[in-house]
Amino acid sequence: MLTIRPRQREDTPSIVALYSAQEAELPLQTLEHYEAEHPLEDSEASGEQWVAVYNGERVGYSSFHPAWWTEDPTAYSLELRVAERYGRHGVGTHLYEQTLSRLWSRGATRLLCWVRDDAVAGRSFAKKLGWRETGQTIQDYRLFTPDVSLEEFANTEARLTQSGISIVTLAEAEHWGEPFLFRLHSLCVNIEEASSDERSYASFLSWKAEALQGIGATPQTCWIAVEAGLPVGVTFLKRVGLEEAENDYTGVAPTHRGRGIATVLKGKAIAWAQKAGVRWLHTSSEVGNNPMIAINTRLGYRPGAVRREIECKINSLKS
Ligand SMILES: CC(C)(COP(=O)(O)OP(=O)(O)OC[C@H]1O[C@@H](n2cnc3c(N)ncnc32)[C@H](O)[C@@H]1OP(=O)(O)O)[C@@H](O)C(=O)NCCC(=O)NCCS
Repeated sequence: MLTIRPRQREDTPSIVALYSAQEAELPLQTLEHYEAEHPLEDSEASGEQWVAVYNGERVGYSSFHPAWWTEDPTAYSLELRVAERYGRHGVGTHLYEQTLSRLWSRGATRLLCWVRDDAVAGRSFAKKLGWRETGQTIQDYRLFTPDVSLEEFANTEARLTQSGISIVTLAEAEHWGEPFLFRLHSLCVNIEEASSDERSYASFLSWKAEALQGIGATPQTCWIAVEAGLPVGVTFLKRVGLEEAENDYTGVAPTHRGRGIATVLKGKAIAWAQKAGVRWLHTSSEVGNNPMIAINTRLGYRPGAVRREIECKINSLKS
């Protein structure tokens, strides 16, 4: 018998085990990290998780949360997984239907999801349910930090310093206050021209909560390139487990590209990881973003899975 029910705390080990079985190359999730990222207390800002139990065994889960980076309050990001040995028993479909009914009741109009290029079942599942590709494709990369020598980048940093660009951590920049953070936000998120002040501020708050105060983020692991008191480049590192961290986002102002800023910022993150005993760094790049891929490759990152973003407009499925 199949039951779909809200996640309980006791489900966490099974969820993490299923995730690890399907994503062996991604950061190893600890139970503590999962619990911190998926609090059970329900709130509008947080998401929900649902668990599929088949004959008493936990065999799948779904998870959704607001896709805050889209600046659309009705957009949600979805993850759905079923254990391979229970594949094609209809578990995924039931789990999806239950999840969808929760999303409807929250007023969701658009769902986003990443599906691996090599996930035959996942792609066919999504296609059958009317999802379509958005055209965005990313590739995972990971780096074994003990193998990296950063000596050759010292000259680039010296050159930047000479040209008036210094690298500071967010902890060192905090005294510049909120106006500095607004600039940092603009550097990270492409705010639409038509975006209202209210929407931009909402986007700023979500960004601050995720990028600066999210699980694993610290002011000491955010490096910023500063020129004349203004941020011109940034990279964030989020610790995931004891030995792993994610180099989440790296961006350089269009006016300052091609000068080695991103390489030096990412080098800072690697140097910190080496000191802290963080052996693996994970990142992802948009396929076709050749400058970023070249930087990652030069630093020693090795490519992993390719993922495609897919989306579904909920209203189109209602009829
Ligand atoms: C995708 C996934 C959730 C499907 O779960 P499931 O319980 O096997 O799904 P269902 O039994 O309800 O199958 C529904 C449809 O999905 C497709 N599908 C499922 N498994 C498939 C497979 N091995 N090969 C091809 N198509 C498959 C079929 O279209 C199927 O309908 P059909 O059996 O009538 O042809 C599961 O395979 C999975 O966890 N994959 C890895 C994670 C992933 O890619 N998730 C989706 C994006 S978040």
